[in-house]
Amino acid sequence: MRFETKTVRAGIVPDPTTGAIVPPIYQTATYVLEKVGRNRGFDYTRASNPTRQMLEENLAALEGGRRAVAYASGLSAVDAILRLFEPGDHIVSTDDVYGGVYRLFERILSRYGLRFTYVDSTDPKKVERAITKKTRMVWIETPTNPLLKVTDLEAVGAICRRKRILCGVDSTFATPALLRPFEFGADLVMHSTTKYLSGHNQIIGGAVVVNDDGLFERLKFVQKAVGAVPSPFDCWLVLMGVKTLAIRMARHSENGMTVARFLEAHPKVKRISYPGLESHPQHQVARRQMRAFGGMISFELKGGIPAGRKLMNSVRLCSLAESLGAVETMVTHPATMTHAEVPKRDRLARGLTDGLVRVSVGIEHPDDIIDDLKQAMR
Ligand SMILES: Cc1ncc(COP(=O)(O)O)c(C=O)c1O
Repeated sequence: MRFETKTVRAGIVPDPTTGAIVPPIYQTATYVLEKVGRNRGFDYTRASNPTRQMLEENLAALEGGRRAVAYASGLSAVDAILRLFEPGDHIVSTDDVYGGVYRLFERILSRYGLRFTYVDSTDPKKVERAITKKTRMVWIETPTNPLLKVTDLEAVGAICRRKRILCGVDSTFATPALLRPFEFGADLVMHSTTKYLSGHNQIIGGAVVVNDDGLFERLKFVQKAVGAVPSPFDCWLVLMGVKTLAIRMARHSENGMTVARFLEAHPKVKRISYPGLESHPQHQVARRQMRAFGGMISFELKGGIPAGRKLMNSVRLCSLAESLGAVETMVTHPATMTHAEVPKRDRLARGLTDGLVRVSVGIEHPDDIIDDLKQAMR
């Protein structure tokens, strides 16, 4: 099956009793056993659920992986991956990661003995230099939240293979419609399904896709033992969202490019980051490894913090909101919202300034999005 067909079909089985083309939501906590020691494949929803299983099979197929494990949120998916390691283990991470991932690493997991080093992974040499004998995984976010930095996955994947460590990729911004990290040597592909995969601002969810059965078993064990599972209804909503992923990502990418070109040419814009623009420092890498460039843009206005604030407070069509990757265009202020917990010094060192504005370009008519940004920047 080709990608577009998989989005609609993979893993989805019509209801066995009625033939309903849309699978039912198996909204049940438990299952009646046939007799002691014999069930029909399911015994308790924390361990497994038919709706969740359909979603997991669908996501594995989309990524070109073997198996997937769904979690209650993107962060619980990251947490599950990190539970593969032992106290004293070291992880090399992209420096510009989502603020919540940074908070999880620094404020929770480091208390249990995991150690993290943050590097600008757009330079694979820096990744290699940061690897020590204790390093177990390189954690890459590409494109990054919020600066849209792009990492050369082929180069980093090769380093990880040479050093015999895992390569984990947070592919939330790209989705398998635009990027398939397994093609470049990734071992684990993680998603916040809250974003583009569900696509409609309705649920919080996460998933990890792997190609290795051993990793799958360990992640599945964490899913059951820790219990951060998504509800059957939420899994169903992601499945319904995924059906339109290919066409939504094409439209997000078209609109993203149109809005990025508008912003780049606007006299009040000081700098802009969008992987599809020739001015983006990793544009060539993005061209090589991504099928299109998506809907995420970040930019800074010449008037700095007050100008950025005025823009965000003046939008009428676009919504000032946390989150991204849905059909509605949303603007976000990373410094006070998504990345508020990254220490200011670290934020500024990475280029995440107080004046930075992040836009998740939706699938509305691009002229309406641009008209709104124009009036908000006046
Ligand atoms: C790149 C990235 N990874 C992970 C997450 C965490 O996902 P969730 O909010 O579903 O826990 C987010 C949330 O914004 C994100 O942007």
